Amino acid sequence: MLKMVSPAPLALTAALVLALFAPSAQADETLRAREPNGLAQTPPMGWNSWNRFGCNIDEAKIRAEADALASNGMKEAGYGYLVIDDCWQVARDEHGDILADPKKFPSGIKALADYVHSKGLKFGIYSDSGEATCQGRPGSRGREYQDAAQYARWGVDYLKYDWCNTENVSAIDAYDTMAGALRSTGRPIVFSICEWGQSRPWTWARQIGGNLWRTTSDIWDSFDRTGHYGEWLSVLDIADRESGLDAYAGPGHWNDPDMLEVGNGGMTDAENRTHFALWAMLAAPLMAGNDVSAMPKETLAILTAPGVIAIDQDRLGKQARRYVKSPVDQIWKKPLSTGATAVMLINTSSEPRKVSTKLFNLDLNPEATFEVKDAWGQKSYAPVKGEIEVDLQPHASAVLVLTQRPKS
Ligand code: GLA
Repeated sequence: MLKMVSPAPLALTAALVLALFAPSAQADETLRAREPNGLAQTPPMGWNSWNRFGCNIDEAKIRAEADALASNGMKEAGYGYLVIDDCWQVARDEHGDILADPKKFPSGIKALADYVHSKGLKFGIYSDSGEATCQGRPGSRGREYQDAAQYARWGVDYLKYDWCNTENVSAIDAYDTMAGALRSTGRPIVFSICEWGQSRPWTWARQIGGNLWRTTSDIWDSFDRTGHYGEWLSVLDIADRESGLDAYAGPGHWNDPDMLEVGNGGMTDAENRTHFALWAMLAAPLMAGNDVSAMPKETLAILTAPGVIAIDQDRLGKQARRYVKSPVDQIWKKPLSTGATAVMLINTSSEPRKVSTKLFNLDLNPEATFEVKDAWGQKSYAPVKGEIEVDLQPHASAVLVLTQRPKS
């Protein structure tokens, strides 16, 4: 049974439920809503240890990543959260309190959180709703309130909560319990639900107080090839799974297509740019997943591209919708708070080609003239009317911001 944790009076509760769950979002009406925590009004941005380092983490490495984020321009570009993923924890003490690996984190998690905070960043951590994490470390099942209280004492600002080893557990109940535990601490903590999309979390995760939820199994550092017997998904696989979920995203609650692989070596420069720009179009959390303490300037330029980040962080919070998918190209459209429209055209084929569309196919006025700005270079192109067309190298894309000219 789900609990109403808000002390709000009944009338307010009913109004909240109505206001929160417009019919388009097809919320689970049997759930009662937890009041939003007010965090993540734009998609969270930061860095996470998993994609690049896996279990190979220690406090020196994490401090080096914090130093880099704080000094290389990423913090200013919006990357505010540093999140340690699986493998920081080894056991529980005689009181059941979770213990960090004393060899890898000899100074303890509180000291690390303090260090990250001293760099002007927020600190995130990872646990799992089963008895063990995906890497066999202690999970939080049955210890949710104890762990949440510990996180709050350490100064944790963000929890990624995974879904391994949860046979016979109800996802809604498990995530609701941890959401309640986090709320009970009184500390503002972003709640990142990592349930891989298995029970359509977009239909319930917002109601229980989730700020973001994974929509798929893990990303694989590839543009169009799945890995690990089809379990790990390429950028294009994830695009297919995110298409149609736009109704569920908005300020405070986001679909999460997984962390970025930009700069991890499996993709070309063009593919990395398409991956990053697509995530921005999807209003996705932008969690860098590479070694930001040692990356070429080309990678940094992708991760900090201001025009692309502005699309991700647009305060309207709309996720792009896919209007065109053919065997060789895709076109996505995202409305922006300025009234302009971001349009992304992708050449998914392995040959250079022109990608074009009539504007009426995108529900844009075919009679109007549109100013055109390129989101990467932030340069203006000649105005267009009726149609757009771009020349694209294999797996490359263009992101154009179209602003309709007023009728003269
Ligand atoms: C799962 C998650 C990943 C990562 C690993 C850690 O696979 O989906 O993002 O957190 O667990 O073990």
